Amino acid sequence: MSDAGTRIACLIAGRGQAGPGGAKHAPELLPGSTVPPVYGVANAAPLFPEDTMIAFSINGKDVTVEVDADTPLLWVLRDELKLMGTKYGCGIAMCGACTVYLDGNPRRSCATPVSAVEGAKVTTIEGLSGQEAAAVYDAWVALDVPQCGYCQSGQIMAAVALLREIPKPSDADIDGAMAGNVCRCATYVRIRAAIHQAAKALGA
Ligand code: FES
Ligand code: FES
Repeated sequence: MSDAGTRIACLIAGRGQAGPGGAKHAPELLPGSTVPPVYGVANAAPLFPEDTMIAFSINGKDVTVEVDADTPLLWVLRDELKLMGTKYGCGIAMCGACTVYLDGNPRRSCATPVSAVEGAKVTTIEGLSGQEAAAVYDAWVALDVPQCGYCQSGQIMAAVALLREIPKPSDADIDGAMAGNVCRCATYVRIRAAIHQAAKALGA
């Protein structure tokens, strides 16, 4: 094997490399460390953490998933449970496309580790039900709210949560509650009108 080949083989094997003169030397240690810097993977976080069993309820059905506990809930919903209605927009809790309910409260699933939902009740757009949801769906269709539709499951989750809390919301209530849900098609005016219409249909 050539000198270069020997040096590469030694590096891969984690042994001291042969110098130009043929002498071998051990890799240098960082001050205070007993682990060689190049080969010190024993102290590093594992590249592939062990999966954890996490049980929760999704749309009224008990499920258990085996995933890295830090996995965002959004990816568990979409990749593991094949619930594609919840969308990925920004991934940093800034757009609302991934809104689900955690024990009835709106939550950004992109910024919620699945470990946080152990034992909880998660509701997605696929499982949204009740009189407020029905009124919102009807108003959304009647006023032709969606344009491209990408943000709309998050918008509807937020609108239903608002009507459950404030049956007759003002414009300011709506603007405040929906402020975290971004629509790149700018359907905001129709969303506001549809929420008023849904509230009216519910008898507010
Ligand atoms: S994808 Fe979660 S808030 Fe944007
Ligand atoms: S309808 Fe297109 S992003 Fe909202």
